[in-house]
Amino acid sequence: MSDTQNKRAYGDGDASFQTAGGEAGIKTLVDAFYHAMATLPQAQHIRQMHDDDLTESNDKLFRFLCGWLGGPKLYREKYGSIAIPRAHAHLDIGLEERDAWLACMAEALKTQDYPEDFKAYLMEALMFPADRCRNR
Ligand code: HEM
Repeated sequence: MSDTQNKRAYGDGDASFQTAGGEAGIKTLVDAFYHAMATLPQAQHIRQMHDDDLTESNDKLFRFLCGWLGGPKLYREKYGSIAIPRAHAHLDIGLEERDAWLACMAEALKTQDYPEDFKAYLMEALMFPADRCRNR
């Protein structure tokens, strides 16, 4: 990454997508995220909300995050438009479920070779959509 890109704020253009390692980096992150969901004790409840086979959830989260981080809109290309709160409206999500989801992401980030300030930025930014998934 060039110095100019390095100095961009993470919310600027595709700076976050690039810092996350592009498609390959985000794929690794999402794999680590679902691994954390399968293994963290406090995430077993939200793991059970998902299908046994996580292939589609993995693909959807990967594609969504690429676009959300300023990269290519891969979710829309394959699945159409999405509103995160509406996509979760059929699920029973409260504070505990929100925090379990965020804990999986925090655990996944531990395994990624990202700058620490980017990890902090990402967790803070993800708090918004995660909280908007809450329906109680
Ligand atoms: C707040 C806690 C969350 C829980 C418990 C949760 C749980 C789930 C579950 C169980 C599904 C599968 C739904 C189904 O197939 O019926 C799903 C889908 C999905 N989730 Fe989450 N999620 C949460 C937060 C988030 C956040 C913050 C994002 C994005 C930043 C996200 C992105 C997605 C996407 C893109 C899908 C696929 C939706 C679709 O195509 O229908 N989720 N989530």
